[in-house]
Amino acid sequence: MTILEARDLEFSFGSTPALRGASLEIDAGEIVAVMGPSGSGKSTLLHCLAGILVPGAGEVVHDGRRLDSLSEARRSALRREQFGFVFQFGQLVPELTAAENVALPLMLGGVRRAAALRSAAGWFDRLGLEGLGERRSGELSGGQAQRVALARALVTSPQVLFADEPTGSLDSLTGEQVMDLMVGTAREAGTTVVLVTHEPRVAAYADREVVVRDGRVTAPARLAS
Ligand SMILES: Nc1ncnc2c1ncn2[C@@H]1O[C@H](COP(=O)(O)OP(=O)(O)OP(=O)(O)O)[C@@H](O)[C@H]1O
Ligand SMILES: [Mg+2]
Repeated sequence: MTILEARDLEFSFGSTPALRGASLEIDAGEIVAVMGPSGSGKSTLLHCLAGILVPGAGEVVHDGRRLDSLSEARRSALRREQFGFVFQFGQLVPELTAAENVALPLMLGGVRRAAALRSAAGWFDRLGLEGLGERRSGELSGGQAQRVALARALVTSPQVLFADEPTGSLDSLTGEQVMDLMVGTAREAGTTVVLVTHEPRVAAYADREVVVRDGRVTAPARLAS
């Protein structure tokens, strides 16, 4: 079953075209790696699929319904309730502790603070972050901060997880740990994952790879085997 679909998306930043007819169908529970050169439109495509950006032309369909034509308020609610996000860096709120950062999406959704912090604590154990809940983001290593960000993305049990270069600021071993946790948790929960990366080793975790070139989605070139 298709959970998310981009149909002929076009998007320009001023006079710079970023998407020029990008189409992609993603099945529920599928982990898709989006690869391609820098500047090809990967992040723009992810932002359109997630309802952060609205395409200038084309359609985004989520769960059988147009997403791009919803109001900003409806898209924002959808992002909060059904989607999770992990980016390359700079995503934790520095004034909050790690535990508060993870609890935040639940509290925004109306869960009481104590219950939200209890749920957050469960994720700290699962992601190997025991004892780090009271730290602020500046007191965490890059890999720890990225696992906190992952916990924050997963705490609401999102239907779709959007990850844009989630290992981009990590060394390869730490990156592998983060990917193991992300993909392991997603497979367990049946979460759909849209994973933007330019690292083949990271893309190898996905069920399928697509390549974005010049604002369009193409199948990856495979070496004859
Ligand atoms: N905020 C912006 N303002 C103007 N142009 C932008 C902006 N963001 C992206 N672009 C341009 O849109 C095009 C697509 O950018 P996008 O960020 O989607 O690429 P990308 O494939 O994610 O690249 P990278 O691998 O470097 O992250 C590029 O030409 C880029 O310069
Ligand atoms: Mg990008």
